[in-house]
Amino acid sequence: MILVCGGAGYIGSHMVHELLRQGLPTAVLDNLQSGHKEAVHPKAVFLEGDVRDESALDQIMAHGVTDVIHFAANSLVGESVEKPLQYYNNNVHGMEVLLKAMVKHGVGRIVFSSTAAVYGEPSRVPIVEDDPAAPTNPYGETKLAMEKMMKWVEGAHGIRYVSLRYFNVAGALADGSLGEDHSPETHLIPLVLKVPLGLREQIGIFGDDYDTPDGTCIRDYVHVSDLAQAHLLALEYLRGGGASSILNLGSAKGFSVKAIIDAAEKVTGQTIKREIKPRRAGDPARLVADSARAKKILGWKPAYENVEEIIATAWNWHRLHPEGWADR
Ligand code: UFG
Repeated sequence: MILVCGGAGYIGSHMVHELLRQGLPTAVLDNLQSGHKEAVHPKAVFLEGDVRDESALDQIMAHGVTDVIHFAANSLVGESVEKPLQYYNNNVHGMEVLLKAMVKHGVGRIVFSSTAAVYGEPSRVPIVEDDPAAPTNPYGETKLAMEKMMKWVEGAHGIRYVSLRYFNVAGALADGSLGEDHSPETHLIPLVLKVPLGLREQIGIFGDDYDTPDGTCIRDYVHVSDLAQAHLLALEYLRGGGASSILNLGSAKGFSVKAIIDAAEKVTGQTIKREIKPRRAGDPARLVADSARAKKILGWKPAYENVEEIIATAWNWHRLHPEGWADR
């Protein structure tokens, strides 16, 4: 049985879908703080509970858990600056309790959801895994601390891990049955798509005076199903005896905020009104991943190489569910 912590969230729910599609028995632990009960696959064993709760972990691990995939964390950069203690408690303490339960129940493998935020303002792009990790916010700092905790726990207790540092995750399941629903929404693509849906007047562009060709920030967008595929490959890699690794997941291609809005206009066939706003605190100008290591070690081959295709899957989901899971 594979335990997915945070399996009711955006990325976690796509992961659970993929695991069950592969016929792998799956259990979900999620406190539903930001996840949605409706997003939990009906074939998964589900426990509403918190990773910081030892008894919830005992209960779910009693189902014969052999591997863990860990998504349960707070993940908003801005919020982390306002509430650092919440981030340390939920993310770092949560990892401590989870690893303790894994030691207790003899679970020896974990695939972990890390982030490009561990790099901070990168010294160069594309970023490789050995580049300096110098987070500029508590979110990145807590994810880095969680990675380090796994390293030391492996030394003491032999739990092997793959830490996947994702860049900008986007898109939805191709059939439109699963997708992104955050409240409040802060991510660029879902916010842009609210304009053609008639749910927003316009999209604000946070700064057009960056040192980039069009002055707006550049990001590397990766499809959520490709990400789920990478986790599955990481699990197989660990099951095959692979050594603990830290891997970037991105597309190696950068798109500016303006380019994303232009692409969304093409996909939706509508004009998307935009307005330049001040810079958002803590945004690096460029984040682009070098994912060669993930491709080499895991044999990862992203299926979505085109940002318009990624946006088209998101558009499909948002059109079918303009109010997210509340529309189901
Ligand atoms: N942006 C806008 N207007 C908006 C929303 C976003 O211009 O209304 C811009 C941001 O300033 C940024 C880009 O669009 O330049 C992408 O912003 P997102 O909020 O979609 O994503 P981030 O790059 O800030 O964050 C992502 C993940 C985080 C992760 C981070 C790594 O969502 O979890 O990458 O830095 F930590």
